[in-house]
Amino acid sequence: MQKITIQDFLKKKREKQKITLLTAYDYPFAKIVDEAGIDGIIVGDSVGMVVQGLETTLPVTMDEMVYHTKIVSRAVQNSMVIGDLPFMSYQTSVADGVKNAGRFLKEAGASAVKIEGGAEVAEHIRAMTRSDIPVMAHIGLTPQSIHRMGGYKVQGKTEASAKRLLEEAHIAEDAGAFSLLLEAIPMGLAKKITEELSIPTIGIGAGPHCDGQVLVLHDVIGLFERFLPKFAKRYTNLKESAFEAIKEYKEEVEKGVFPSEEQSFK
Ligand code: KIV
Repeated sequence: MQKITIQDFLKKKREKQKITLLTAYDYPFAKIVDEAGIDGIIVGDSVGMVVQGLETTLPVTMDEMVYHTKIVSRAVQNSMVIGDLPFMSYQTSVADGVKNAGRFLKEAGASAVKIEGGAEVAEHIRAMTRSDIPVMAHIGLTPQSIHRMGGYKVQGKTEASAKRLLEEAHIAEDAGAFSLLLEAIPMGLAKKITEELSIPTIGIGAGPHCDGQVLVLHDVIGLFERFLPKFAKRYTNLKESAFEAIKEYKEEVEKGVFPSEEQSFK
């Protein structure tokens, strides 16, 4: 099977087939996600919260994102790898944004980038697209704006803010984005945006009508326990299985059961 491309995303939308995405941040999990046939892997700046133990995504650096994207790309055969531009890698200028987006493709093996924002990053999207860097825009709840938004809150609940998000969606598409991530917005609004755009929408907390869905991997497999957003679903609890395995190892070492002859050399 060939690597999934942005044309495959567009084709899936046209043919009404759902697009599947997950985040991943390292080689072993990226390999599992890829082998499971997931269409796209976003190497999200959520790495700050679910891997680095930070309170927010804000401290994550561009160098850290390049490092994680590089090891994810190394594991992936088919999924589209999308690097997530971290806080202050593009807000400073369009030129900084293009340069940092380029690092994901040039140094880290990604095929596309994700940028938080709609209208305020339209120039960035235009400049990146002109440089042959495919861009996924991200509107609704944008975690890098947590201090302006006053927390991780559902967006687009009032008529005015819903109208604004619909406008932002069109602005992102017109600027050249190949897809649009919708985070934590009412499902009716996500449906309207999905119907009006010709690029695919990818929802996280945006209901079932989006063209595709994404979740943070560590929520799905039970490796992030600080909180589980209402929109996420835990499909397994790897923390529990890892904990049991590690406890059993400790007991066996303490009792002299491990290593046995089987794990020893003669
Ligand atoms: O950082 C992240 O993991 C995200 C998800 C919404 C994909 O932005």
